[in-house]
Amino acid sequence: MQREQWASRTGFILAAVGSAIGLGNIWRFPYMAYENGGGAFLIPYFFAMLTAGIPFMIMEFGLGQKLRSAAPRAFSLLSSKAESLGWFQVSIAAVIACYYVAVIGWAISYFGFSFTQSWGADANGFFFNNYLQLGSDNGPSALGSLQWHIVGPVLLAWAVSFYATYTGVRTGIERLGKILMPVLFLMVLVLTLRVLMLPGAVDGVNWLFKPDFGALTNPDVWSAAYGQIFFTLSVGFAIMIAYSSYLPKKSDINNNAMMTVFINCGFSLLAGVMIFAVLGYMAAEQGVAITEVVSAGVGLAFVTIPTAINLLPLPWLLGPMFFLALVVAGFSSHVSIMEAIVSSAMDKTGWSRRKAASVICGGGAIVSLAFATNGGLLLLDLVDYYINNVALLTSCLIELLVVGWVLFKMPELRSHVNSVSEITVGRWWEFTLRYLCVAMLLVIIGNNLLTAISENYGGYATADQLVFGWGLLAAMVVGSVLLSRQTSYPVAAEA
Ligand code: ALA
Repeated sequence: MQREQWASRTGFILAAVGSAIGLGNIWRFPYMAYENGGGAFLIPYFFAMLTAGIPFMIMEFGLGQKLRSAAPRAFSLLSSKAESLGWFQVSIAAVIACYYVAVIGWAISYFGFSFTQSWGADANGFFFNNYLQLGSDNGPSALGSLQWHIVGPVLLAWAVSFYATYTGVRTGIERLGKILMPVLFLMVLVLTLRVLMLPGAVDGVNWLFKPDFGALTNPDVWSAAYGQIFFTLSVGFAIMIAYSSYLPKKSDINNNAMMTVFINCGFSLLAGVMIFAVLGYMAAEQGVAITEVVSAGVGLAFVTIPTAINLLPLPWLLGPMFFLALVVAGFSSHVSIMEAIVSSAMDKTGWSRRKAASVICGGGAIVSLAFATNGGLLLLDLVDYYINNVALLTSCLIELLVVGWVLFKMPELRSHVNSVSEITVGRWWEFTLRYLCVAMLLVIIGNNLLTAISENYGGYATADQLVFGWGLLAAMVVGSVLLSRQTSYPVAAEA
């Protein structure tokens, strides 16, 4: 069976950018920057982008395009023992897919609310009590019952991913990217330009760019920056390998990878400017410091922004535009997360695309309902912590160790990517991946493990940490090994 292919280079770049740009840019980046000291965060962020993001993207594009396979088969073609790494990455994608879709569901609801600002004057109370219906007795293992007003939008988000993965690379994913990405850029640009004109906006933006060199000695800031780079670029969890496996044989790799990274990180900055301009305006309106207007974490998008919308001119226009941007960014990333899983299943089992998309999206939709409950937010918070701080970074480290050190594939990969690309990469590329990135990841993962072991994240019960943190990670490892032992691939990759 002929492997599907992107119809055009632009189509591929828009899809890759669509995957990279997501909730991570509009929802996560601003609060990460905020929690880690604004300008202080940007230095490690750009350092990670240049020394880890770009080299990693080139490596994953190179692997997918050369081996023409989703992650598990790509790694198994390098060495049969490495297949389980591919499945571990797929399992990360699967877990993220289930909670990511819940946040898209909330954003869909808020898109509706924003026309009339139904959250009223108390956006905080509205989000936690009225919308999520989160009770004081709820927890990650005391989820309460299904909240049908959340289930509805979550299923709507699933319908989009199902449509795209069911109809395939050209008809579904590529077409969706070509429509969604320009719309998203336009909306965020209009919003940013408008909010920048508000009084106090510039102070907010200055705060984002104010460097604080003292924070550079804090390992947590570095950890947050690296974690953010891998998450936002969709590397290390099977996505970019799957997307580049649909590239024609002669496609440029290095240029495409750099473009994807620069567009994504540029977009994050734009979103950061947009959010911080709003925060600066709020601070000026309320006569308080910028550090006092924000609730960090999840609350930034669903509490602080609605509060800000109340204060904005034309709230019925700017509000829906913000939440639509969040929904659109979320859709194109969720599609890519699902495609990473669907393509891996198709490679392994020989199932048709339709069957794989139906079974996997159907199963995912059922599991994701756990996040559409009273306590769903708490479960999401806990699972997200372990996935991002432990599983994703470890997956990236193992990928580097396997490709760079155990199988010693970097020189071969470098000559491959250079043979098809306009811009060539020198030995620095191998050096950053094999030494710099590995060293940084070892330190960061070590630091994260110490923190995760020594304190109960978020104050959740030890039993919850054991089940939804460590237990989940252990199940992912065991599942990956078992899957890699299942019967071999029915269709050989046409490498
Ligand atoms: N890269 C995607 C995001 O940032 C997953 O949301």
